[in-house]
Amino acid sequence: MTEQSFVMVKPDGVERGLVGEIIQRIERKGYRLAAMKMMVISRKLAEKHYAEHVGKGFFQELIDFITSGPVVAMVWEGEEAVKTIRTLMGSTNPREAAPGTVRGDLAQATNFNLIHGSDSTEAARREIDLFFSPDELCEYSRSLDRWIQ
Ligand code: RTP
Ligand code: MG
Repeated sequence: MTEQSFVMVKPDGVERGLVGEIIQRIERKGYRLAAMKMMVISRKLAEKHYAEHVGKGFFQELIDFITSGPVVAMVWEGEEAVKTIRTLMGSTNPREAAPGTVRGDLAQATNFNLIHGSDSTEAARREIDLFFSPDELCEYSRSLDRWIQ
């Protein structure tokens, strides 16, 4: 089923110059980029985005990190986008993430794991609404769609 997922290159990915590499992996898999913007996240937005982790030991550190520099926020669309992009990302701990995944190939530390992706379709809807207004989502078709889905 066609889904949308909210994906973000985190500040470490931007500062390490890995934005293109990360986008390319999702784009080459065949997902359609529906929205994208570079921004520095406010603490208020970060706390809403990571609300499920309020009270956990790593919460403040996570908020400090995610607001420490620009991120690239995106909406990607396609068949089973949520689950498949999580697979492309790899496990939360990059040292345990499979080779071939973004985290498995390019990162080491759980605190600096390069990429965020929605973990359910409900989370995706919530996160897309937090970061984008409806008129920022672009509708277009691609000639490659008939070969991909
Ligand atoms: P994300 O939400 O950023 O896509 O990452 P995730 O689903 O793979 O992991 P999640 O459990 O949602 O945790 C969010 C982020 O918090 C940091 N974290 N640190 N020290 C720890 O035990 C720990 N656990 C999680 C990671 O940066 C993780 O991406
Ligand atoms: Mg998560």
